[in-house]
Amino acid sequence: MSPIIHYDISSLREALQPYRSQQSDRQERQQRIALVPTMGNLHDGHLELVRIAKQYVDVVVVSIFVNPTQFGVGEDFDSYPRTLDADVTKLATVGADYVFAPSIDAMYPVLPPPTAVLAGNIANQLCGQSRPGHFDGVGIVVSKLFNIVQPDVAVFGQKDYQQLAIIKQLVRDLSYSINVIGAPIVRADDGLALSSRNQYLSADERQVAPVLHRELQEFAQKLKSTVLSQQVFDQLLVDTRRRISDAGFIIDYLEVKTEELGSVVSDSTTFNIENENIVILVAAWLGRARLLDNQLVVIN
Ligand code: PAF
Repeated sequence: MSPIIHYDISSLREALQPYRSQQSDRQERQQRIALVPTMGNLHDGHLELVRIAKQYVDVVVVSIFVNPTQFGVGEDFDSYPRTLDADVTKLATVGADYVFAPSIDAMYPVLPPPTAVLAGNIANQLCGQSRPGHFDGVGIVVSKLFNIVQPDVAVFGQKDYQQLAIIKQLVRDLSYSINVIGAPIVRADDGLALSSRNQYLSADERQVAPVLHRELQEFAQKLKSTVLSQQVFDQLLVDTRRRISDAGFIIDYLEVKTEELGSVVSDSTTFNIENENIVILVAAWLGRARLLDNQLVVIN
């Protein structure tokens, strides 16, 4: 069945009202609502978020909104692919119940919005450094979507690792009663992480793109299997950067962080990663596409 599309906030709220638990209706099984926020141009990675959401709840709402406040000057807001009809057809195959596809005016009566949701220190690194203000834009739109849908569960992809960490922080700091689920990265057969922006790749670039995942896997393997000194670690980082650049990428960042996106503790001779899982994160341009990927390294 095709999901029902709502373009405005009040009609979506009205449609969801019957599913909310009601004091007077205790006999009925409590139905729960999940939100899968997206910017549309859906691929299998998004569909997997819906499949995961359905394991938790009865009703899945997918928002499709290309959010202007998270795009910087000169970024691809105008050219970002808008494919609502095709998206709805795909969502029907995975059983999404509602699509929320608001206009910019419906979401932002005043633009830029005078009220801010600031992501704080966690945003002053990685993607936040090359895209200033990006995560504040994500923060306000996700807060608004949470208030509009009032979901019990929200599902986000782990490909956007920093975004997921910021949303968990937002849920904690603003006391949302929402279970945020991080969904594993969905990859093409050759390892490339699925992303709407992969379609900016030329055929030749598409052949090269899986190098990113391969390099992260190799790096992770070496971090686990090598006795690390700071010097060995630095050399691994330099070598990995060089190989990625040699393949044709322009690296925005390649960094190793703790799972919580803190700095990895090290001094001049030792490299202490014994007690904490770490994550390798990369953002790199290949032609017009800025590709993101990450690899969690479980230390035991
Ligand atoms: O990850 C995305 O697609 C967007 O950043 C999100 C979470 C839908 C907010 O616009």
